[in-house]
Amino acid sequence: MSAYAWQQRFEAAKGTIRALQDELVETNRGLLALAMELEERVKERTTELHAAHEELERTNSELLQLTLELDDRVAELRAKNEEIKAMSQQLWQAAKLATMGELAASIAHELNNPLATVSLRVEALLGGMAPDVPRRRALEVVEQEVERMGQLVANLLQFTRRGQSQVSTLDVREEIERTLELIHYHLHNRHIAVVRHFAPDVPMVQADLQQLRQLFLNLFTNASDAMPQGGTLTLQVRTDPPSQQLEIAISDTGMGIAAEDLPKVMEPFFTTKPEGRGTGLGLPICRRIVQEHQGALDIVSTVHQGTTVFITLPIQHGQTGTSFIEA
Ligand SMILES: Nc1ncnc2c1ncn2[C@@H]1O[C@H](COP(=O)(O)OP(=O)(O)OP(=O)(O)O)[C@@H](O)[C@H]1O
Ligand SMILES: [Mg+2]
Repeated sequence: MSAYAWQQRFEAAKGTIRALQDELVETNRGLLALAMELEERVKERTTELHAAHEELERTNSELLQLTLELDDRVAELRAKNEEIKAMSQQLWQAAKLATMGELAASIAHELNNPLATVSLRVEALLGGMAPDVPRRRALEVVEQEVERMGQLVANLLQFTRRGQSQVSTLDVREEIERTLELIHYHLHNRHIAVVRHFAPDVPMVQADLQQLRQLFLNLFTNASDAMPQGGTLTLQVRTDPPSQQLEIAISDTGMGIAAEDLPKVMEPFFTTKPEGRGTGLGLPICRRIVQEHQGALDIVSTVHQGTTVFITLPIQHGQTGTSFIEA
């Protein structure tokens, strides 16, 4: 091959190499651009993934929150359900009591007249009988029993009483004294001492006098029954300034009430007294009287130590009873 031909070939090869070099540079550039684009895409994707991850975490914590809220709601619903159950039971109990009360009232009403007739007849028979007649004792027993039946009927009628109350402005301490006078001899015979802690400036209350005396009589009788061997009946009357209520506490040093009996003592006909001694209506009557006066009645008791009945009554503003000093 001639030198010229070699030259030609060399030039051609150089051209090819240059072209290849250019192509390589171009490809390199393309690759670089691709790499940059890829990097950009990866960055974008990473940001997107990051955002998605954060979103997922947010949703997750929201779901957790919702689950907790749902748990709370379920617990609330359960509590409401229990409440409704208890309420419907109370309603059922109240309905039963109302029916029983009406029945008792109508029976008591029906019994009243025949009892009065029997009582009068027995009295007449006894009146015309010499003291030494042997049948006299039997008639006296009949008289006592009729009297007890009369007491039971009176209690039942009082318990189911629907009459109008006679409200007046009263000094509670005076009504306590009047009631104590009624059972003074009974307390004395039972060796029960009465201690009074009456605040000197007790406000007046709006109350039905008869009902208030009935309330105190029932509570004093219970206290006396609880102290067959004697004891102390402590009566406190004072004002509770924060609640603007009159507070009355009636305490005895008697046998107390067993813990299992305490929730039952205000149920009608619950009694622990021997057959014929108690009707179990005293405390339900007391509670009703206090409720009708917009007050409250609570009992605290310790077996073998004694019982205290707490009564609160709303105060009649602006009037203060002054007739008593602490004794
Ligand atoms: N001060 C008290 N000390 C001990 N137990 C009491 C006292 N007060 C009430 N109780 C108990 O509560 C029960 C119910 O009293 P509640 O006055 O309603 O009826 P009762 O006294 O048995 O009969 P009633 O009052 O109708 O004659 C009593 O039988 C007694 O067991
Ligand atoms: Mg009683």
